[in-house]
Amino acid sequence: MKKLVVIGANDFQNQLILKAKSLGYETHVFAWADGAVGEKTADYFYPISIVEKDQILEKCREIKPDGVCSIASDLAAITVDYVSENLGLPCNSTKTTPIRTNKYAMREAMKKAGVATPGFIKVTTDPETWKIDDLKFPLIVKPTDRSGSRGITKIFEKSELKDAVEYATKDSFEKSAIIEEFIDGDEYSCECISQNGEHHFLAFTKKYTTGSPNFIETGHAEPSDLSPELQEKIKPMIFKALDALDIKNSASHSEFKVDKSGNFGIIEIGGRMGGDCIGSDLVELSTGYDFVKMVIDVAAGNKLDFTKTRTPEKVAIKFVFTKEDLDECNKFAKEHPERIIRISEMETENFGKTTDSGSRIGYYIYKREGE
Ligand SMILES: Nc1ncnc2c1ncn2[C@@H]1O[C@H](COP(=O)(O)OP(=O)(O)O)[C@@H](O)[C@H]1O
Ligand SMILES: [Mg+2]
Repeated sequence: MKKLVVIGANDFQNQLILKAKSLGYETHVFAWADGAVGEKTADYFYPISIVEKDQILEKCREIKPDGVCSIASDLAAITVDYVSENLGLPCNSTKTTPIRTNKYAMREAMKKAGVATPGFIKVTTDPETWKIDDLKFPLIVKPTDRSGSRGITKIFEKSELKDAVEYATKDSFEKSAIIEEFIDGDEYSCECISQNGEHHFLAFTKKYTTGSPNFIETGHAEPSDLSPELQEKIKPMIFKALDALDIKNSASHSEFKVDKSGNFGIIEIGGRMGGDCIGSDLVELSTGYDFVKMVIDVAAGNKLDFTKTRTPEKVAIKFVFTKEDLDECNKFAKEHPERIIRISEMETENFGKTTDSGSRIGYYIYKREGE
């Protein structure tokens, strides 16, 4: 029987586990045992934290899987590449892991490869490192190694620098922040799958955020509103950035901004599916391509399959933060039940704590027809 190792067992990894099972794989799942749903859906569950790369590798040498994969998590992607590489399975090289997971190393790699980047510097809590004279305000200050909009501030003048750096470094594992010039425009992401260094475009996503000062994502829509001309202009720039980050065998999620005149700037790229249901749900709903299966096929070295599994639809996800958002969700579900695709559980004990994306209480995915 074909075997697939999945790194992580939470809700979104569960979609990967279920897909693998439906494709006839025996699933072997690794995660910290905390009662996550994947512990039960997996054929075999191993209570080993996803950061324990060597312990997982050791177990995998016994399992002898056909592929090792994960979706939508940078932390899991690091382990996926480590284990796959050591087992001789398709993956992204571990030599270049830092340029895919550290925001400063990523900017350096893109700059070196000639990808347009805003001005940027790396700082610590030591004011000696705050050399911003060559940077043009407004600036974004963010931890070098976190995600989910943690520790981010937009600043307009020097007097705001100290607080912003303290806020960002406090959240950073390596106690460092990146300060970079603010890129103007509307925010989008590009979802791709790469196999043997060949990149395949799947979808553009329009992103909605709370904006300044903390930029928490509030929703996403696919397809995006980018014109066909702009899309064709942007795709090669994204592919060049994927090459710069040595993304050869994985999904990717490239966040960028583009303004009214077509000025384009990359925010960051993940060598994995976009989270927030973008990779696991929106791509398939809006394109018909089975993105989750593609991730498995890349991991197991199967040729990618571009048959459409469904008729593409215009879809969106909206996140619920407040009581008003929840009322709006309930009202929408009542008035347009046929347009609701999924409503998550709502963790109402989180009401009123909107500081990063972890403070959301839930989400709903719906069809945009008739908007
Ligand atoms: N240089 C920048 N210019 C404009 N907006 C930015 C910039 N960097 C970050 N942002 C905003 O902050 C959000 C989060 O930053 P990002 O680097 O994607 O961190 P995270 O890993 O938390 O997602 C982005 O989606 C964007 O809205
Ligand atoms: Mg981001």
